[in-house]
Amino acid sequence: MLNKIRELADKQGSRMTELRHYFHSNPELSWQEVETTRKIAEIIEELGFENIRTGFGGTESGLTADLNLEKEGPMVALRADIDALPLTEENDIPYRSTRDGVMHACGHDAHTAMLIGAATILSGIKDDLPGRVRLIFQPAEEHGLKSGAETMIGEGVLDGVDAIAGLHIWSSVPSGKIGFRSGPIMASADVWEITVKGKGGHGSMPHNAIDPTIAAATVITTMQTVVSREIDPQDTVVLSIGQIESGTAANIIPESATLKGNIRTTSPETRAAIPEKMERIMKGICTAMRCEGTLRFTNIYPVTVNDENLSDLARSTAVEMLGENCVEKAPLLMGSEDFSYYGEKVPGTFFLLGCGNKEKGTNNQHHSPRFNIDDDVLPSGIAMLAGFAWKFLSEQGK
Ligand code: NI
Repeated sequence: MLNKIRELADKQGSRMTELRHYFHSNPELSWQEVETTRKIAEIIEELGFENIRTGFGGTESGLTADLNLEKEGPMVALRADIDALPLTEENDIPYRSTRDGVMHACGHDAHTAMLIGAATILSGIKDDLPGRVRLIFQPAEEHGLKSGAETMIGEGVLDGVDAIAGLHIWSSVPSGKIGFRSGPIMASADVWEITVKGKGGHGSMPHNAIDPTIAAATVITTMQTVVSREIDPQDTVVLSIGQIESGTAANIIPESATLKGNIRTTSPETRAAIPEKMERIMKGICTAMRCEGTLRFTNIYPVTVNDENLSDLARSTAVEMLGENCVEKAPLLMGSEDFSYYGEKVPGTFFLLGCGNKEKGTNNQHHSPRFNIDDDVLPSGIAMLAGFAWKFLSEQGK
């Protein structure tokens, strides 16, 4: 069956490339994926999927659809994110973005097309599938604060789901390779803000004031000891300060200083332990310098942790379908993904579909205005999604 799926995926290549180009030309920002959702709905309805739900998070964005609802047996979910980014495309291509300031610069256009390709195959072999499939076309992966995944989970899209898989096109992995990894594959991302309150005064009379800037500066340098002295060196953490705000003139000691930064971790335990460490160091410094400090955390995305069994299953699907040569170990990425939310609820696996090809100019960084995709890899992605679904359901059904 995997060979058949692969052949069917190869046949989908040119149609899904066209569809990918359509989505690329018509990008929509997070929670505004209205036309995208409509286009997906049109195709998915024709394929005979049932229980089609659209419009999540109080918007008209996002779609889920089920196959083989009447069947007993496990349910596997396949997820594609569908949103674009706020930047202006610089690629000179026939299917360039038609919307200034909006661009599919992360490959979600390809994810959408590949999941439609996989859906086409799965609907064609549905009688042979020993279980059920749910498609999740997810809006707003790039939003950060109102995650599409978290919102959809809150609205029940994982109800009845036994496992979930998703993939990301990846330009630093060469075309023809697929990267797998069990355990953490992408970092958590959270942002924080520290306010240091002192007492303002004349720049010439520091003794009559309480200077918050010197305390804030000490917090900046000492905070790095959270990473260098309190975290296992083999455990990867990044703590960056991106913004400092304080004062209005050279001869005034300001009332307060504000620091903003972000933190990335690669294990859920470390992520949970970080705020206490930062707060303790910050408070200690502020108290010693007669200031008052507060720390506020805003959680963005959790660590994406791949289930070991499912990752092995995805890897062996790739080996059987596409050959040992296409498989490599994925790097641990310090970027983050809201696929992580699914993995917190059900076993999940997320893998990287390489699309980097220097000659074709498809090795530019994600989120850059020159990001583009090697469309020749789409059939592998389509085969992987459909193949994984089939393999999971068959193994479970044994
Ligand atoms: Ni992305």
